[in-house]
Amino acid sequence: MNEAASAPMGAGADAQAICARHGNDPAALLEIFHDIQESAGFVDEAVLPTVASALNLSRAEVFGVLSFYHDYRRTPAGPVVVKVCRAEACQSMGALGLIEAVCDRRGIALGGTSEDGVTVEPVYCLGNCALAPVAMVNGKLIGRADAGRLDTAVREARS
Ligand code: FES
Repeated sequence: MNEAASAPMGAGADAQAICARHGNDPAALLEIFHDIQESAGFVDEAVLPTVASALNLSRAEVFGVLSFYHDYRRTPAGPVVVKVCRAEACQSMGALGLIEAVCDRRGIALGGTSEDGVTVEPVYCLGNCALAPVAMVNGKLIGRADAGRLDTAVREARS
């Protein structure tokens, strides 16, 4: 393939370079998505044809993998990202109710971003199960989380 002639601009070119760094190996698809998200903040569906072509996979195959894993964002996150653990230990300590409360306060569904730029995402075990329910706000771990503590952490993340 003549990369110079076929390389799309912007995100597509970045995706193509990332695929090349992984040897255009279909087995590296998860790492490739991880690197694209690391670079762009999310995995834009517009790059899927580029990735599919580079890895010699169908677009349906790469979309299937992208949509299966919750860790990949398909839209840009807001400046404040709240991750709430919904794995077993946290669920047993009320994580699902906490997620509902956090989302309701912002008028969004889980995975969405509020008008004031707060993205709420699920995460599956933050390794702090003894302090369940656990959340993370812009990388800051919060044990025994409740909606009020998360509001405070969001305010702090903005300041
Ligand atoms: S289950 Fe939530 S931190 Fe481990």
